[in-house]
Amino acid sequence: MAVIDNSRLAIVGAGAVGTALAYASLIRESAREVVLYDIDEARVNAEILDLAHGTPFTGSSAISGGADLDVVEGANVVVITAGAKQHPGQSRLDLAGVNVEILRDLMPRLVERAPNAVFMLVTNPCDVLAVAAQQFSELEPARVFSSGTVLDSSRLRWRLAERLGVSAASVHAMIVGEHGDSEFPLWSQSRIGPIPIREWIDEEGASLTVEELDEIAEEVKNAAYTIIAGKGATNYAIGLSGARIVEAILHDEGAILPVSSVLDDYRGVSGVALSVPSIVDARGVSRVIDAPFSAEEERQLHHSAEAIRASLEALGL
Ligand code: 2OP
Repeated sequence: MAVIDNSRLAIVGAGAVGTALAYASLIRESAREVVLYDIDEARVNAEILDLAHGTPFTGSSAISGGADLDVVEGANVVVITAGAKQHPGQSRLDLAGVNVEILRDLMPRLVERAPNAVFMLVTNPCDVLAVAAQQFSELEPARVFSSGTVLDSSRLRWRLAERLGVSAASVHAMIVGEHGDSEFPLWSQSRIGPIPIREWIDEEGASLTVEELDEIAEEVKNAAYTIIAGKGATNYAIGLSGARIVEAILHDEGAILPVSSVLDDYRGVSGVALSVPSIVDARGVSRVIDAPFSAEEERQLHHSAEAIRASLEALGL
């Protein structure tokens, strides 16, 4: 896919996630210019140099940036990765207080510099922060959303593809709800190629049992805990997921992705951000899709909404 002329992606935060997103964006040519910002000048300049040294091996994307927030000026998309990260044993919601305060300071300054940008939150808890960022920026909800469960859905597709011996591109399945402990797969709408997942029969004539599907969903939900216990953070897959969403925006794709935006009477859920199948294009989240949910999935969606609402209330948002 050709890189779009003059497209400018700004990444806020040069930690493990921000730099992985920058790296993925350069390799995938997600934007013509990738700009990295961090308050730590020595660190951000070193990361930019390291990334720049690899660009003779990538396409036509360029990397620049620094420790002056003015570098985000003119960005079409601003991705926020800055903030405290999970330590082993912490949930994403445990990070809410400190990261909301970072956003309270950051959002107005970002909007001042990139008034026409689409803003995507990657920092956790990303659903809570999408609501906070939308409030602090006063932008329309379509333009302020989070990467939500795009990563979790990618984990699910990979896991099912491995299990069934098919390409992940042929696994049409999504995790929805909170990007966190109450997330759940939308099994009722999942397909392997054209076949509803519960009707899939493998070479030995066996189908996927409910128990096995539950186990896979648990594994996906706990994937970040597993990775954090081993290496302290997750970064590569979220970097790729973020780059993929950026492309959907910059190429005005109308891609259907489970990003998380502030909902307005979505199956009775309002005022909290949750991931549901959404159309992502140059406007951001141009529409959330009223996908069919089973009664149990609807209950799970409301359970996710309660978790996010409780966190927002505790923060006074
Ligand atoms: C992840 O799911 C920690 O939210 C991050 O990898």
